[in-house]
Amino acid sequence: MLDKINKLVEEVKELSAASAEEVEQLRIKYLSKKGSVSQLFEEFKTIANEQKREVGKVLNVLKTQAQEKINELREAQSSTDQSASGMDLSAPGTVLPMGSRHPLSIVKNEIVDIFARLGFNVAVGPEIEDDHHVFTALNFPPEHPARDMQDTFFIATNPDVILRTHTSSVQVRFMEKQQPPLRAIFPGRVFRNEAISARAHCIFHQVEGLYIDKNVSFADLKQTLLYFAKEMFGEETKIRLRPSYFPFTEPSAEMDISCTLCGGKGCNVCKHTGWVEILGCGMVDPNVLESNNINSEEYTGFAFGMGIERITMLKYQIKDIRLFFENDVRFLKQFESAY
Ligand code: DAH
Repeated sequence: MLDKINKLVEEVKELSAASAEEVEQLRIKYLSKKGSVSQLFEEFKTIANEQKREVGKVLNVLKTQAQEKINELREAQSSTDQSASGMDLSAPGTVLPMGSRHPLSIVKNEIVDIFARLGFNVAVGPEIEDDHHVFTALNFPPEHPARDMQDTFFIATNPDVILRTHTSSVQVRFMEKQQPPLRAIFPGRVFRNEAISARAHCIFHQVEGLYIDKNVSFADLKQTLLYFAKEMFGEETKIRLRPSYFPFTEPSAEMDISCTLCGGKGCNVCKHTGWVEILGCGMVDPNVLESNNINSEEYTGFAFGMGIERITMLKYQIKDIRLFFENDVRFLKQFESAY
């Protein structure tokens, strides 16, 4: 009998199974009531008493080893056998909806990127401002209509606590902190007390630009803006500067680009002129330099300001500014970009 047991011990050591079903078959073969190990226990009852001690010991070892081996095989199967776990590990995963950047962020980042290539840094300033930074230091005469309640949101009863109406206020803060040469752009949110329509909103975004150094000329301004227009709207884009007025620049201009839709032939977007206005600009008024302690005999500079909504609407042919603020996923998910 000892020989039989030892043979089975060897046999059990070598067992293997390719599936959970095969493991079950092995269990039946060795450990079920009719299985070979159980059979040996039956046979054990019949042997001579003086042999029982020795044989019993080996038989128990066989039983334990057989049980352990079957358990081991079963475990190995449950971690690899897909049908045993009830999962199909080759099935494609659930696709989670991916967010995308807001179109205004995409375009803002692109503007920052384009000017970074020309050496412009980025700076930001507060949205809640005072009269000095939004108007006085930018050469607005005291009676200027832009200070009127029509345009400016006043918060609190103190008339000197206002929401900035343009990012030009950051120019002032920048000049307070640093002496020329200065070259930076200032993106941010601005607020105007205006009725909301397809073309206007009371909250919108601007990017302001400022470059002050020795010998900065209007030609530098023009070349910088031409580079920007071509980078943003395509190599074939043309620019046109029209004389204009801003209190903080002299001379001042507004810049048009050739219509992005018809390429200058005339269409609804450009109202059949072939041109669309995208920004205001000019040479920084000496009064602005002086009120910020920059010597206007030594330094000159240019500045420009543009609305991010306007640029975005032209670039993506969006007809209604309100779409930017409605958080409609059907609108937002159309914008995917590297920026
Ligand atoms: N701040 C002006 C606005 O909000 C835009 C602007 C025009 C900014 C000319 C400038 C500039 O820096 O030179 O309409």
